[in-house]
Amino acid sequence: QATSIPADRVPDMGKRQLMNLLLLGAISLPTGYMLYPYTYFFVPPGGRGSGGGTVAKDAIGNDILAAEWLKNHGPGDRTLTQGLKGDPTYLVVEKDRTLATYGINAVCTHLGCVVPWNSAENKFICPCHGSQYNDQGRVVRGPAPLSLALAHADVDDGKVVFVPWVETDFRTGDAPWWS
Ligand code: FES
Repeated sequence: QATSIPADRVPDMGKRQLMNLLLLGAISLPTGYMLYPYTYFFVPPGGRGSGGGTVAKDAIGNDILAAEWLKNHGPGDRTLTQGLKGDPTYLVVEKDRTLATYGINAVCTHLGCVVPWNSAENKFICPCHGSQYNDQGRVVRGPAPLSLALAHADVDDGKVVFVPWVETDFRTGDAPWWS
């Protein structure tokens, strides 16, 4: 009897592959959903400040304390820190020795090189193709098409916290292209 299955009932290769795909989908989709909360849970403590921000980290990965930073970084200083999503972000010390309320994302808007600060020229100058940005990260020379992205730099419980910048770009008056 087992040999009498009609040929048209035997799944051909295409059907089998489809069934495998459906089966795989049925297994992997819920797994993906279940993994998400765990991934989220294991974000290291201290990595998130209140209000969806990220505590700024110095070059060796320590939380940045505003008061201490200002002791070691003078007026006009722009030093790279670890910002939102791990992006290299400049913390800015204003001329009056306070921390600027914005950080400048150092990723060049041309092809993504990290743009160094040039204090002699008072500009950020990209070593890759020569794009230039003013001291607030506004693009002043191409080929970069856009200004450097901003993040809010808040101080929370003594620590510097970067918070996503979703408001108008104060340098250009435009909506932020990065959010
Ligand atoms: Fe900066 Fe091209 S990547 S100018």
